[in-house]
Amino acid sequence: MSHMFEVSDLNASGVQHRELCAKANQVCDSIFGERVFVRAVIEASNYCRENCTYCGMRRDNKSLPRYRLELDALRRIVFDDLPATVTDINIQTGEDPVAVREVLLPLISEISHSTSLGISVCLGTLDTRLYGELKDAGATYYIIKMETGDEEHYKKLESPGNLRERLDAIWHLHRTGWRVSSGFILGLPFQTPAIVQKTLDLLASLPLAGCSVSPFIPGESTPLAGHPMGSARQTLNAIALMRTMRPNWVIPAVSAMNLVSDTGYADALRSGANLTTINMTPPERRGDYLLYDKKRFIMKEALILRDIEKAAKRPSLTSLASYFESLNQAV
Ligand code: 5AD
Repeated sequence: MSHMFEVSDLNASGVQHRELCAKANQVCDSIFGERVFVRAVIEASNYCRENCTYCGMRRDNKSLPRYRLELDALRRIVFDDLPATVTDINIQTGEDPVAVREVLLPLISEISHSTSLGISVCLGTLDTRLYGELKDAGATYYIIKMETGDEEHYKKLESPGNLRERLDAIWHLHRTGWRVSSGFILGLPFQTPAIVQKTLDLLASLPLAGCSVSPFIPGESTPLAGHPMGSARQTLNAIALMRTMRPNWVIPAVSAMNLVSDTGYADALRSGANLTTINMTPPERRGDYLLYDKKRFIMKEALILRDIEKAAKRPSLTSLASYFESLNQAV
């Protein structure tokens, strides 16, 4: 079987690596015209009913203080504090249906009624009724990562439910009118090249509007502490391959790129990534949104703008949501 992604290309180095990234950058510019989307993320709750071994917010991490932001605090961030370049808002939580029902549904309705912000959510797998309520409230983009595309590996990492259910959720969201983004982690423990190949092939087979790749960061309070972190170069190669294969995908530069290389974030924007994220979680809560480690790299507006400029790009004036809307009208 021939693959659209060749996993061996992930090891490209030197000239081969630079050419791969430069070509992907050109493909990206030909579609998006040197523009990069700028969204804000609010991490609204770190309660989580899942137990993924790579994630610091897993339910077995009993030492982590849990928080759920209140509606008023969220309103202040969205309506008073957003930097001018932000066109979209991404609301992210651990898997916490209580936060969705009690806080996020009313917040999303208010945002969609009183602003032109695009609304993305990253909330895990929920009851199908809740997806519908989120969409009715005004969210249009659902981010649901798989992290690995191999069933056994998925199970070993104690990822949510099982891989089949995750894929079913992606198809359900797509069929019910969401734009869907997924993603994976590169350099996960027990991840063989064959597993990466399988993951890339699986992602390519799904009805996705976007996809992320993050280098693995070992979390200090997770069962995977002590495993080596993922490679910056391989992650850039993965971004470039994804861009080349799916020119229209929305591909984020993830903040973990800052942890694997000083220039990682700007390099991602030069290798096919076209989405940046300003972190708007209140400073006193950021440390508890523990994906891997208390030592997070927090992307503020000034850093984002600096890296966009370093990559010879400009912030998009159009939101992700209206970009997708214009695609709907084109067909
Ligand atoms: N290393 C890298 N990325 C991680 N994520 C969670 N845990 C880790 C980790 N240990 C990423 C996943 C998740 C996103 C919010 O953070 O891609 O979807």
